[in-house]
Amino acid sequence: MKKNILVTGGAGYIGSHVVEQLLEQGSNVYVYDNLSTGQEESVGNATLIIGELSNHTLLESVLIKNKIDSIIHFAGSIVVPESVTDPDSYYSNNTKNSLDLLHLCVRNKIKNFVFSSTAAVYGLPKEVEASEQSELSPINPYGRSKMMTEWMLEDFSKAYDFNYVALRYFNVAGASPSGKIGQSFPKATHLIKVCCEAAVGKRDLVEIFGTDFNTNDGTCVRDYIHVSDLASAHLDALGFLDSSSKSEIFNCGYGRGYSVREVINSVKKVSGVDFKVVESAPRLGDPPSLVSNCEKIKKILNWQPKYEDIDYIVKTALEWEKTLLMNKK
Ligand code: UFG
Repeated sequence: MKKNILVTGGAGYIGSHVVEQLLEQGSNVYVYDNLSTGQEESVGNATLIIGELSNHTLLESVLIKNKIDSIIHFAGSIVVPESVTDPDSYYSNNTKNSLDLLHLCVRNKIKNFVFSSTAAVYGLPKEVEASEQSELSPINPYGRSKMMTEWMLEDFSKAYDFNYVALRYFNVAGASPSGKIGQSFPKATHLIKVCCEAAVGKRDLVEIFGTDFNTNDGTCVRDYIHVSDLASAHLDALGFLDSSSKSEIFNCGYGRGYSVREVINSVKKVSGVDFKVVESAPRLGDPPSLVSNCEKIKKILNWQPKYEDIDYIVKTALEWEKTLLMNKK
């Protein structure tokens, strides 16, 4: 039987890549998005409902009318430094809205829930690679807002007929190999996107935020994962919920880190553009190193990433940036 899946935030960067794969798989896909950062054209042939998560009447009517059986929940705020200066909107958009959505799930007997969580729940991991068992100790409101949602999910799954998979994303980058979607938000802060904008001439320079961290070259180290590999993990998670009726948490990364300087070098190499780079002060709330242990998702979900090469991730991000430039976005 065809599944009826609601994707909150499905017009956004990661959500739209999941929607693309769900449509290919043949599911009925309903996107619920306020288009604050998402783009209408990114949802393909999915049904788009424009609305706020806080509009419970509209949201519940969408769940009932379309007989939704599974929800993938992306909608939320995602910029770490912004969460430090505006925690109110992070606890509202991320934690409170998630609680209200969970309430609607229980009330409408929707049992399958995939949650977009983050590696930021680990804070400053003691291990070189953070595993799902590593201590949760987020160092910014963004990470805390997501950690609190994970706790709510755990408690809901114990108390009600409800299962979830929380996916802890490491650093998501790149664009769909289809060339149709990518990261379109104009005020992007993510490193690979920022570097690609510099490579195509949209920015004058790239700042390195901090050069004195305790890492190989002094700049922060992150585990960059291609957005289409991350998207396929969501489909695997839905399959797991259907077949196992259990709840689980999985890291989504490749288990290897690149420094800011290494990423910059990759973008310079792939683009052939020697854009200007300056060294600046560290950014608020940035951990020096965040790399995943990703054994669990490979073992339990049989997740098979395809795009692990950093230069390939950069190549797809760069091609998308050129597409945006041609369309004057
Ligand atoms: N950086 C720069 N210059 C820039 C942009 C970023 O030096 O112009 C550095 C940052 O300081 C950081 C690294 O590049 O050290 C990566 O920064 P991003 O902004 O690309 O990503 P973050 O690591 O801050 O955060 C991302 C997501 C979060 C998620 C986190 C998990 O935005 O949602 O990864 O690792 F929680």
